[in-house]
Amino acid sequence: MCLPMHAVSSMDVLTSNWSNIQSLPESYVFPLERRPGTNNIPASKDIPIINLENIYGPERPEIVQHIIKASQDFGLFQVINHGVSRDLMDQTMRIFQDFFASPAEFKSRFYSNDLNSSCRLYTSTLNYKNETVHYWRDNLTHRCHPLEDHIIHWPENPSGYRNIIGKYSIEARKFLLTMLELICEGMGLETGYFGGELSKTQLISVNHHIPCPNPSLTLGMPEHCDPNLISMLQQGNISGLQALKDGRWIGIEPLPNAFVVIPGLQLRVISNGKLSSAVHRVVTNSKESRTTIGTFVAPSSDILIRPADSVLKESSLTPLYRGYTYKEFFSMFTGNNCEAERALECFKL
Ligand code: OGA
Ligand code: NI
Repeated sequence: MCLPMHAVSSMDVLTSNWSNIQSLPESYVFPLERRPGTNNIPASKDIPIINLENIYGPERPEIVQHIIKASQDFGLFQVINHGVSRDLMDQTMRIFQDFFASPAEFKSRFYSNDLNSSCRLYTSTLNYKNETVHYWRDNLTHRCHPLEDHIIHWPENPSGYRNIIGKYSIEARKFLLTMLELICEGMGLETGYFGGELSKTQLISVNHHIPCPNPSLTLGMPEHCDPNLISMLQQGNISGLQALKDGRWIGIEPLPNAFVVIPGLQLRVISNGKLSSAVHRVVTNSKESRTTIGTFVAPSSDILIRPADSVLKESSLTPLYRGYTYKEFFSMFTGNNCEAERALECFKL
């Protein structure tokens, strides 16, 4: 049966509304060369784990160097003793799991494919209607900072949503701004470089993947680089995140107490290529639902992004990118099918 697109409602397309899926629908089957395949990729023991416990003691310079090295070598690392309480992490995870388990009628209120919608629930990608293959993923996204400007657009249910997610957003922001401060120190930039407009925007973006009948044929999220300044992920305890390292996919172990930190492409530009931003993707599994909570900090639209003067001066480097506003970058990003690296090509010198 083939329904005209206007007859397909959010109720039908959101995977979190499905039950008892016995086989993978054809529209989720990737062409051969893009399938993740059956060889199980184990979690890598090489991914750096940064411990922030003694960040205000004499070990700080060492921790800073560890972060810079991890950003250079992997473009992704895990952080423990990050200051966000386990209790708040667990409550936040529970709220989002309950959100995706809510009745279809409730969720349909938030369903939108409009990038400008203030609180948006969608499935696969924003391009659902035109894409040839769908990703096995639902996503809920909204802005979080300043809290008072955005909280009115958030769901009020599951009960406690605004209270808990509000607290989490504040704590997540503190954590990411601390990470940016440490990166600032490690790159020898002037104090406060990433404060203000460069880190003004904050989004929460929650991925939810129901168990998939055939994980070898499909993906939960395409391979991509994060377009923003810096990202953090709370993975819970179900694996699925993979990063590309030296041409091979490696698994990122789900550590329930840790945040995965990914420097975004804007950090690559500001550091003039010194820091990298890992290419990563999400694979599905057939046994358990997986929910990951992403928090993304990004520049405000009109701010100019360019390789930092002090980075260029220090080693008399020539800039690898021309300056651009984040708005310009973002329009290239959406115009290039949300492929951030492709968008960045436009600003390379
Ligand atoms: C993202 C992302 C990974 C995950 O949202 O950009 O890479 O594990 N998420 O959900
Ligand atoms: Ni990502």
